[in-house]
Amino acid sequence: MSHCEFRSLIADELERVEHLLHDTLTGGDFEQKVNALCQSVVSAGGKRTRPTLLLLCAYMLKDLNEDAELKEKACLLAATVELLHTATLVHDDVIDNSPKRRGQDTLNVIYGNHVAVLAGDYLFTRCFALLQQLQSLKCIDIISRTVATLVTGEINQLEREGDLSLAESDYYHTIYCKTGALFEMAACAFALFIDAPEEQIEALKTYGRETGYAFQIADDILDYTADSATLGKDVGTDLTDGRVTLPVILALKNAQGEKLEALYQALENSDFAAVKAAIEESDALNACQNEALNCTSRAIKALTTFPDSPFKEALITIALKAAQRNH
Ligand code: IPE
Ligand code: IPE
Ligand code: MG
Ligand code: MG
Repeated sequence: MSHCEFRSLIADELERVEHLLHDTLTGGDFEQKVNALCQSVVSAGGKRTRPTLLLLCAYMLKDLNEDAELKEKACLLAATVELLHTATLVHDDVIDNSPKRRGQDTLNVIYGNHVAVLAGDYLFTRCFALLQQLQSLKCIDIISRTVATLVTGEINQLEREGDLSLAESDYYHTIYCKTGALFEMAACAFALFIDAPEEQIEALKTYGRETGYAFQIADDILDYTADSATLGKDVGTDLTDGRVTLPVILALKNAQGEKLEALYQALENSDFAAVKAAIEESDALNACQNEALNCTSRAIKALTTFPDSPFKEALITIALKAAQRNH
């Protein structure tokens, strides 16, 4: 199933999500300035992966065309998840000192860190404003726990900055916290909202978590291999920020003798070209790709409990694409 085909399954709902995002960042006597800042990030694009995933999971459980009210709730949840994601991106760019996001200058570059932190905070309030319309304690609970997990992920990462002894298990824990948890939440939020059976909720969580792992591993590969124009953000920032990601962990594992010494040196000097060359030579990129595809396989396997449908097929496509991203 192609990207266009699966998006057309939920085109109306995605359009509704865009309206909700726009409307929640509009109005308010004192909020025009901050709304404009946040709008500029939201309207710069973004793949809308998490709302897409949420809506497809919702349709896999229920035919929303039979219940307009429930469909609106699913769209509200999808917009909530996208706002949460956007808030974390705005803060992440401050932490990572990133100059570009979604093809444009970041708020931290244009207005400075203070304004960017406040804009991120405001996006969190908009997220909770949409969430409260759902009147669902289960959704409030999972979303607040997801935010807590995201925060611990970013702190973990900061604590291990520049630590070349980082184990693969530490890396997986960090990417669960910063990416897997949000995908997991996006996949299961609607199921929680409608009180779906526990077995379905667990299957959706596994699907989301594993897809999130694949997505972040691919992101970490792209940080060494992509060009910034296609990606819409700068490459090489993981190295500059002292972030030890899977390509580096596996390159360190594979290299020996003089090559290992040279890699340590290149990492210490943040020499992007040399680190990239060492990663390529050590075959770490193939190994990363395989690990991402293993996550994808586990994600797809979790869906076997659901009957076949175009929505399930679309979710399978998303999991496959997550491991093989080019942007
Ligand atoms: C970026 O997420 C943060 C990561 C988890 C790597 P996306 O790649 O989904 O960002 P947008 O929303 O498309 O800009
Ligand atoms: C993203 O990790 C995780 C978030 C919680 C935003 P990255 O730092 O790798 O994401 P990009 O590369 O800046 O999009
Ligand atoms: Mg970042
Ligand atoms: Mg990245």
